[in-house]
Amino acid sequence: MPDSVTEPYTSETIELLQNRVSTRKYSDEPVPDEMVETILRAAYRSPTSSNIQSYTTIVVRNPETKQKLSVSTGNQKHVADTPVFLAFCADMTRIDYALMKHQHNLNNNNMETGLVTSIDATLVGMSAYLVAESLGLRGLMIGGVRNNAVEIAEILGLPNRVYCVFGMCLGWPAEQPSQKPRMDIGATIHYERYDADATLASLDTYDSALAEHYEAIGKATTPDSWTHDMDKKFHPPLRDSLREQLKKQGFDFR
Ligand SMILES: Cc1cc2nc3c(=O)[nH]c(=O)nc-3n(C[C@H](O)[C@H](O)[C@H](O)COP(=O)(O)O)c2cc1C
Repeated sequence: MPDSVTEPYTSETIELLQNRVSTRKYSDEPVPDEMVETILRAAYRSPTSSNIQSYTTIVVRNPETKQKLSVSTGNQKHVADTPVFLAFCADMTRIDYALMKHQHNLNNNNMETGLVTSIDATLVGMSAYLVAESLGLRGLMIGGVRNNAVEIAEILGLPNRVYCVFGMCLGWPAEQPSQKPRMDIGATIHYERYDADATLASLDTYDSALAEHYEAIGKATTPDSWTHDMDKKFHPPLRDSLREQLKKQGFDFR
């Protein structure tokens, strides 16, 4: 499948996704409470596994809290500077309540419970992202909240059985970053069966394309940009203490 075609179909949502780019600088223009509420009310209708609704979103505007979140996510300046920070949390407390009401408990929660609640939080987060962008705001997802899952839980007052899957900075854009090239779309979309050759075929080309992009925007890189970044990120394993940290939050990913 070629990645630059004139699409036979279009819509505002398609155009929004085709043009989107993560934005890390926001203007001082306030983001009204009503706008955030509209975004979250729309996202609240997202699909949810078995109607569990196992997520909670926390809206953070307090500068001190954002500063603490910024430090805990790896000194990410945009987290302190963003007008609004949304924390999308996997939340098992309501399932716990349902089980207790029926004389059971969630002490034996497992990988599926952890995944299903994390997926619920993620779907709501992506919906919120799209709605926010459709209103002209710009967003940035923050996985850095999993650098220190327990510390983030303390900052946000998360009880046992709740953890922050990812956060999101939201504000009016004060920059227009150029789009980062994606790898060949044929590597990521296969038909009928998994195509192992297609998956890996274009990665060397992608290394060069991404290096060219970073050079063009003045960002330090290497000629084997993407594979180099992935090696740096995942070797040694990323966030190796996460399972233990999430266990402290009451999630047993076993
Ligand atoms: C789940 C998730 C977590 C992310 N975490 C961070 C983060 O902590 N800090 C950051 O600057 N960008 C973060 N990003 C943004 C990605 O780096 C970005 O989406 C990716 O490099 C592709 O660039 P683009 O969004 O501009 O296309 C995250 C994105 C996702 C989907």
